[in-house]
Amino acid sequence: MKALFATLLILSIASASNFLEVQNGIEAQEGHQCIPNPTFNVTSFDVQPWPPVLSGSLTMNMTGVFVSSAYVENLSVGTNYNRQQWNYQHRNINTNFTKGQTYSFIIQTDSGQRSGQYIKEVVLSNQDHNNNYVHLACWQFLYTLS
Ligand SMILES: *[C@@H]1O[C@H](CO)[C@@H](O)[C@H](O)[C@H]1NC(C)=O
Ligand SMILES: *[C@@H]1O[C@H](CO)[C@@H](O)[C@H](O)[C@H]1NC(C)=O
Ligand SMILES: *[C@@H]1O[C@H](CO)[C@@H](O)[C@H](O)[C@H]1NC(C)=O
Ligand SMILES: *[C@@H]1O[C@H](CO)[C@@H](O)[C@H](O)[C@H]1NC(C)=O
Repeated sequence: MKALFATLLILSIASASNFLEVQNGIEAQEGHQCIPNPTFNVTSFDVQPWPPVLSGSLTMNMTGVFVSSAYVENLSVGTNYNRQQWNYQHRNINTNFTKGQTYSFIIQTDSGQRSGQYIKEVVLSNQDHNNNYVHLACWQFLYTLS
């Protein structure tokens, strides 16, 4: 698989991490949920900087509530450039979360190095007893780099 973007780094995963100051005090809500009835109900999704800039880094804060207890195997960031194929980068989370738990996933990735239209998605997943993939959360947002 050809990796378009070199790094995906989960900076921190903590329910009460507030060391990262929001530079301008503006927290934008970007994008939309991409599965019905997710197990992890996203309540805010912030992307900094917004709008993204060419060859920049993006820091995403996906905050939500676990509607039921769940094991999260992976957090995956998918990137789609100019409606071509999707590229995914997976990070192992390997954590059990409890019903009602609020959580902030802080994810750093790259904006993209070519001008054009981008779709990013963040997916939480695990596998059921038959090894089928189960999506627990899916959030997408679009932007254009020029
Ligand atoms: C992530 O977003 C939540 C909800 O807006 C906020 O409470 C939290 O401080 C943010 N975390 C970081 C590291 O920005
Ligand atoms: C998910 O969050 C939205 C907005 O915060 C809320 O209106 C909705 O009731 C929540 N859904 C569940 C199943 O908790
Ligand atoms: C998650 O919970 C399941 C079921 O209780 C348990 O078998 C598993 O070891 C737990 N995993 C972790 C990483 O704690
Ligand atoms: C988790 O990511 C690994 C690669 O890092 C992959 O082999 C596995 O199938 C993924 N599982 C899920 C549930 O996405």
